[in-house]
Amino acid sequence: MKNIQTFCMGKTADGRAVTGYTLYGTAGMKMTVSDLGGVIWSLLVPDAQGRVSDVVAGYDCVADLEASSGYLGALIGRFGNRIAKGSFTLDGKTYTLYQNDGNNHLHGGKVGYDSRIWNVRCEDGEEPALILSYLSPDGEEGYPGNLSIQVTYRLRADMALEIHYEATTDQKTVLNLTNHSYFNLGGFASGTILDHTLMLDATQYLETDEELIPQRIADVDGTPFDFRAAKTLRRDFWVDDRCPALQLAGGYDHCFCFSDWQHADKTVRYRGYLQDDVSGRRMELYTNQPAVQVYSANFLEDDGNRLKGGLHKSKQSAVCLETQCMPDSMNHEGFTDCILRPGQIYEHTTVFLFSVEP
Ligand code: GLA
Repeated sequence: MKNIQTFCMGKTADGRAVTGYTLYGTAGMKMTVSDLGGVIWSLLVPDAQGRVSDVVAGYDCVADLEASSGYLGALIGRFGNRIAKGSFTLDGKTYTLYQNDGNNHLHGGKVGYDSRIWNVRCEDGEEPALILSYLSPDGEEGYPGNLSIQVTYRLRADMALEIHYEATTDQKTVLNLTNHSYFNLGGFASGTILDHTLMLDATQYLETDEELIPQRIADVDGTPFDFRAAKTLRRDFWVDDRCPALQLAGGYDHCFCFSDWQHADKTVRYRGYLQDDVSGRRMELYTNQPAVQVYSANFLEDDGNRLKGGLHKSKQSAVCLETQCMPDSMNHEGFTDCILRPGQIYEHTTVFLFSVEP
């Protein structure tokens, strides 16, 4: 293969072999992914001078990944973010899921898709791609229905990482897939992302309680959650009593609802950008999802575990833009639809398009 290299990454603690795939794109773009969790281990992107840096946080080896938490770079499912009390009802039947985040279910449960070994098919070419698939059996982690999932990671010639998710089920189920990459456009070791600029076409966000469970849909107008005009993450980072919503989460960890989320269709739309003025890197966000969880890595505290290059975890050293439907949406009237029925195809496309400002 010309633009994809395969290599052995070692084994998980329970003896599963892990394979790595390095994709070579245009202008020095390069990405490494594992079949374990579909984890993006590194994503190299040029800056204004053509120098490449790795713009995602991650680990050096499988043992470090397994020793740690935080879902760095991983595919998330069956349901991204929290489900209150790990419980929901579909057609009169109540499903009970594992509570792996206090009283709540987070990112798919005890063994989510981030810890499964995915099947991988390589598609070599000028725009190299990996096609990952996984069959999530009926009852896995308590969810109903055999779910057949396919996720494509493609490095496009226009310097974009395109992620396309597809899934079908044989029983009515709930579904919210996403990728949990932690971006720092200055390079993963460059310090805080609070000086990154963010713009988002989001008119509303979800207010959460102290367990980060959504309570209600609120307008961003006049709050630190208003990113309709570009601003740095630092500008209104009021983690004090000026903004209880930010204080409770220790920073941004909220679902931002795009302006037309009520009328979402499958069209992929431009939704905003993240920019680092020091390196000149900009990352535009395109998606067909109704919302994005913006997470300023407030739980990325130094726990003694190593990240890449021996770096220690530190808060706000990266930001996640997890495109998705609304967390806990099955438990709230008027939230986004998260149900997949037999015969339907779940189709989610998210594009991170990189460019440099001179
Ligand atoms: C998500 C959540 C956060 C946190 C991280 C994982 O993005 O919104 O609250 O749980 O995942 O550490």
